[in-house]
Amino acid sequence: MISPRTQIDLFDFLDETHRQLQRHLVLLRSVVEACQVGHLDAAERLRARQVLHFFNGEARQHHLDEENHIFPVLAASSDEALVAAARRLRQDHGWLEENWLHIEPAVAAISAGNQWFDSAELLHALEVFEALYLDHLLLEESLAYPEAHKRLQAYDRAGMGREMAQRRSARPAAASA
Ligand SMILES: [Fe+2]
Ligand SMILES: [Fe+2]
Repeated sequence: MISPRTQIDLFDFLDETHRQLQRHLVLLRSVVEACQVGHLDAAERLRARQVLHFFNGEARQHHLDEENHIFPVLAASSDEALVAAARRLRQDHGWLEENWLHIEPAVAAISAGNQWFDSAELLHALEVFEALYLDHLLLEESLAYPEAHKRLQAYDRAGMGREMAQRRSARPAAASA
């Protein structure tokens, strides 16, 4: 997590969060596949808790980081392709949130040792979530981040990093769970 005391570069932090996102997508797949074979042991329940914690917390903060600091830079560009990319990436966040809200109750049930849901439907929802997320990360890393990086000065990046750290430290403890 970004810290107000650590002078970590904004884009290094965003890249690291993408690696965390990919790791948590792998964890989520492990949990969903264990469901398909009815093998939900303590390790899978723990993975389910980690997945819930991450997608309910840091993943949403990451979307806010981009909506507050990265997409507006692209949207202000005179390049129509960048403006369209910013619009699409912001819309993706809405779809990703909707997909996650569809998946979350099943993962919460798994974390509590229950399996009342339709596991085939959960697998399908996961496939949609994974495909959209991976496509989204690719567009950010190949276009949005490099183009925003070119347009931002070091002092802009430092201010953005401070806002990101302050927003996280202002969250109540319960909201980060
Ligand atoms: Fe994003
Ligand atoms: Fe991202």
